[in-house]
Amino acid sequence: MQCNYFDHGRCRSCTLMGTPYADQLHAKQQRVAAELAAQVPDGAWRAPFASHESHFRNKAKLVVGGSAQEPTLGILGRDGAGIDLRACGLYEPGLAATFDELARFITTAGLTPYDVTTRRGELKYLIVTYSPDDELMLRFVLRSKGLLAKLRSRLPHLLESIPRLRVVTANLHPEHKAVIEGDTEVPLTDEVALPMRINGHTLMLGPQSFFQTNTAVAAGLYRQGADWLSDDASGSVWDLYCGVGGFARHLLSPGREVVGIELSADAVHNARAGLPEGARAQFHVGDATLTTDALPQPAAVVVNPPRRGIGELTGFIERRAPRTVLYSSCNPQSLARDLAALPSYAATHARLFDMFPQTSHSEVLVRLDRR
Ligand SMILES: C[S@@+](CC[C@H](N)C(=O)[O-])C[C@H]1O[C@@H](n2cnc3c(N)ncnc32)[C@H](O)[C@@H]1O
Repeated sequence: MQCNYFDHGRCRSCTLMGTPYADQLHAKQQRVAAELAAQVPDGAWRAPFASHESHFRNKAKLVVGGSAQEPTLGILGRDGAGIDLRACGLYEPGLAATFDELARFITTAGLTPYDVTTRRGELKYLIVTYSPDDELMLRFVLRSKGLLAKLRSRLPHLLESIPRLRVVTANLHPEHKAVIEGDTEVPLTDEVALPMRINGHTLMLGPQSFFQTNTAVAAGLYRQGADWLSDDASGSVWDLYCGVGGFARHLLSPGREVVGIELSADAVHNARAGLPEGARAQFHVGDATLTTDALPQPAAVVVNPPRRGIGELTGFIERRAPRTVLYSSCNPQSLARDLAALPSYAATHARLFDMFPQTSHSEVLVRLDRR
């Protein structure tokens, strides 16, 4: 993939830009296999699951810079000035197609971008998520409530100019911090969740919930998870760190009950809301690492933690001794450490899912069977 922003030094986020995609994938596979060599035997690896090398991102986190008259949507340079990256080739086309309209809205509504050096202005980021049904969720990240009235009064114009907008919210982020969003979310539309249809399952995505950024690769990951657990079709299956229920929904089957645990109340609310009638699934808000003995004995456990991995949960899995564990990880280092802390399990299947082309990041799914 070629990128003018990269070539001209305006953005260096994609560290593998310019490397032929087949070479990227091969190198990633070699690296994760080497990093996991002590835990995953060579024979366990399946062929990597490839992505489109461009136009794969379903979510844009755009720093708003410049002025209301001439906003930039992209990143900030070292000097704190906005760099416009509207033509970035990573975004899905239906997502990128909204950027010019959003910039026009900033101008016509007079939304002043936040300036990190003077700490003046209001609009910090636009976070836009694109669904497989060509619908969008838009979040305005604001320094204060100052723009809320204006946003509310201009909303009909915005919805008219981008009719595919299904959910619009304002996120209040008063602090000057590296994290890009605050805790308070103010809905501006009646709809507060974006339906994300994936492999025929509709997952409801709320503004503050996690969703995999590459929808096509996420679809492959969930299908693979369901396939690798198809011989454990009865009993209870836990989906720990379940988010809005991506794995859980793919694991539903007659004779099986799925229990999801997730820290985000917003995600659990939407995981429940998206369930089909009669589905044997329950979702609980909680810390997966503190999961108690009160839950039914699992036949299988799925874990999909943040980068830090599952930590002390390994001891819990050892004690509860499910037959099978599926571990989906975005960090080979914490994955290697956690697999080493599960001595009663052997890695029998492993696969790289290239969720993040053009970068060295990788998602790896491993199936562990009790020895
Ligand atoms: C990598 S995401 C995976 C989400 C989901 N499995 C999916 O495919 O969309 C990790 C999730 O773990 C949640 N999380 C973080 N720490 C947690 C904890 N200690 N206990 C439960 N969930 C946690 C996050 O809110 C996030 O939804």
